Amino acid sequence: MGLINKCLFPAAGYGTRFLPATKAMPKEMLPLVTKPLIQYGVEEALDAGITGMAIVTGRGKRAIEDHFDISFELEHQIAGSDKESLLDGTRDLINRCTFSYTRQNEMLGLGHAILVGETLIGDEPFAVLLADDFCLTESDSVLAQMTALYEQYRCCIVAIEEVPLDQVSRYGVISGVEEREGLFRVNEMVEKPEPAAAPSNLAIIGRYILTPAIFEVLRNTAPGRNGEVQLTDALQTLASQGQVLACRFDGKRFDCGSVEGYIDATNVLYRRTIHSESEQ
Ligand code: G1P
Repeated sequence: MGLINKCLFPAAGYGTRFLPATKAMPKEMLPLVTKPLIQYGVEEALDAGITGMAIVTGRGKRAIEDHFDISFELEHQIAGSDKESLLDGTRDLINRCTFSYTRQNEMLGLGHAILVGETLIGDEPFAVLLADDFCLTESDSVLAQMTALYEQYRCCIVAIEEVPLDQVSRYGVISGVEEREGLFRVNEMVEKPEPAAAPSNLAIIGRYILTPAIFEVLRNTAPGRNGEVQLTDALQTLASQGQVLACRFDGKRFDCGSVEGYIDATNVLYRRTIHSESEQ
């Protein structure tokens, strides 16, 4: 076992930007080509050597649990047909990972969702993956890059990328001291600042490695931006003690929480699918 064995997936949000598609279907089940967003997330965690998938769900999210389970009727129906292999990847995940679930019954923010997940994590460092930030990398996944850093530094790590200054108000934004190329010791973190108040244009994307110290800090973190308990605010408390790193990752992120980013990711993946099929 590595040092990071569990990944928390906050997946209770409503996905209102995708209405009406997300009226009765979890936004995490929206597909990029044919695979749901959350399955890409689980594959990424597994690529980082993580097998414990801890999912914070909410009302209307049961399709996620059903997805990571055997569907006897369907599998019986397609057994022996050319469709059978389409479920191989999902079946492999079910065999190799454990899935545990708890429910966030009020939407009180990302920080609150993490705290609700404490029961699934316990007293150990863990990863957090926001499935609507979809990342494509050439080799190691973003989480694999981050768990390797954790082995070395043993503190909280957030993934960051540069965004245009007029977009910083969509993100948690950091500033810090660059200790080595692409790796910052964070001293300031602000959730969704106005451009004029932003400490930089380095935005947090939905990949984190957190130490269990975060839970106690979250319990003592007052609601912040939008009246929600913000993970960024809790991390700021640890950053002021020098305990947070931010890393630029190798790869490309798509904001699949927006229709535009989702369509971009779909197009890129579709072209890759066509390309790899034509090579076969
Ligand atoms: C959350 C975090 C924010 C981070 C973002 C990445 O915001 O609160 O700090 O930059 O995820 O996607 P949300 O997109 O849930 O509003």
